[in-house]
Amino acid sequence: MILKAARIGHPILRTKASPVDPAEIKTAEFRRLLDDMIETMREYDGVGIAATQVHVAKRAAVLEVSGEHPRYPDAPNIPLQILINPEILECSNAIEEDWEGCLSVPGLRGRVPRAKEIRVRALDENGGELEFTAADFHARIIQHECDHLEGLVYLDRMTDLKSLSFLEEFRRFNP
Ligand code: NI
Repeated sequence: MILKAARIGHPILRTKASPVDPAEIKTAEFRRLLDDMIETMREYDGVGIAATQVHVAKRAAVLEVSGEHPRYPDAPNIPLQILINPEILECSNAIEEDWEGCLSVPGLRGRVPRAKEIRVRALDENGGELEFTAADFHARIIQHECDHLEGLVYLDRMTDLKSLSFLEEFRRFNP
């Protein structure tokens, strides 16, 4: 089921999400939430979505970049990844600034500094433990989604708002 994405101004986006009880992961209700998040992300051409964006204050996020992505055509493909209770264990000192958008901030793009590489721990959709290193755009998406679970949006991370652009102007002036 395609869910309604909350837009900034809705207090859910400023809510710190609660950890998911591992026993909950295999319940039909939680599986449905994950499936709906995946469907919603794909429907709106997102590259990631956090549960808070669909009005559920639980620490879960999904991400995927497949094919030539309509909103991020230059992004490398990233297979579907489900992250439950994700934690960023380490961040590289190297910071990279690049464009981000968000389904909760529709129609806008801005340049956001993020750690180039991160070490991540999470549970997968079966409750299995994941620990991995992510870099570049993959690391960017995870940092963006983990921020959502803390009640933050990318606008909070921008160090200079001058790059903030509507999509049409972004496409026109940043080919
Ligand atoms: Ni977002």
